[in-house]
Amino acid sequence: MKTTISVIKADVGSISGHLVAHPALLETCDEVLGKALEDGLLEDYYITRCGDDIDMIMTHRNGEENEEVHETAFNAFMKATELAKELKLYGAGQDLLSDTFSGNIKGMGPGVAEMEFKERPSDPVIVFCCDKTEPGAFNLPLYRLFADPFNTAGLTIDPSMHDGFKFEVFDVIEHRKVILSCPEESYDLLALLGSTGRYVIKRIFKKNGEIAASMSTERLNLMAGSYVGKDDPAAIVRAQSGFPSAGEVVEPFAFPHLVSGWMRGSHNGPLMPTAQYDANPIRFDGPPRVIGLGFSVADAKLGLPVDLFDDPAFDRTRQQASDIADYMRRHGPFEPHRLPSEEMEYTSLPGVLEKLESRFEKME
Ligand code: F6R
Ligand code: MG
Ligand code: MG
Repeated sequence: MKTTISVIKADVGSISGHLVAHPALLETCDEVLGKALEDGLLEDYYITRCGDDIDMIMTHRNGEENEEVHETAFNAFMKATELAKELKLYGAGQDLLSDTFSGNIKGMGPGVAEMEFKERPSDPVIVFCCDKTEPGAFNLPLYRLFADPFNTAGLTIDPSMHDGFKFEVFDVIEHRKVILSCPEESYDLLALLGSTGRYVIKRIFKKNGEIAASMSTERLNLMAGSYVGKDDPAAIVRAQSGFPSAGEVVEPFAFPHLVSGWMRGSHNGPLMPTAQYDANPIRFDGPPRVIGLGFSVADAKLGLPVDLFDDPAFDRTRQQASDIADYMRRHGPFEPHRLPSEEMEYTSLPGVLEKLESRFEKME
């Protein structure tokens, strides 16, 4: 029998701005998922949050894109939205693009990362949840994790990983996808992944087809046609025996690379790895945050997670991220701190240009 992990996330309201999801919203989600557990739809679940996003990590036996599981998640977010409205939380229901469920939660606002697999004798699974950034934020760390021996020692010294991995990449602008193999096609892959706003990793497989990682790739601003919220991503990664070890999985996050998002979804800033209790992106609505939870999946039960970035060995990364945040902030409204105009989620530029139109003079 196979096990499915579904991570479904949304921002349905937060305290004092786009900062921190209210604990009562997580409790509401807990009630809905608790009922689904009692009814036998779910085998287990764990609810966490990163900043203003609630992440529901669920295990079950129903495969990916299961209508009932998606509907349960949607209902949980709907109920939490009602409460968010009552409490007048900020951005209540912001990631729900519709108030009626239509078969699959994809395209309705929440982000979805899912994978189905046959459990190994021991099956470590790691879930990453981000806030104040976009799906392309995972491109660099996941490339390094599954394709760079300078990060992942197993690629060179573990015979069960020596073959490399296959990357499924989505073009989120043209809605098409391509699969590239590493190490053979690593330069082609990097040529795509460097464009983090357009090409994003959706899934990673072993060469024998076994699933290794799965990401949420929804870009809410593109889905809705105009900007209506954030697209803060989540990822599921399998670890150990034939996959990267847990330590290799977290290692790429020791480098606080620059990602798009942060203030008004319109700035570049460092991705700071923190423990769950520190996932409060407040300074200039950030800097962007990632948390990591390590589970030992057993008979489709998640059990208790290890809070992976609750490790003083990441203190220097956090310090470095703060230093980079200071440095980037000093650019104020200038690129490359501010995103190029086509990537900004808020812009006054068209209005400014219209106002100045009659004052622009042709140059010879
Ligand atoms: C970024 C984000 C926040 C808001 C900012 C302004 O993803 O959610 O930085 O963009 O707080 O919010 P509004 O326009 O709702 O006042
Ligand atoms: Mg928000
Ligand atoms: Mg968010």
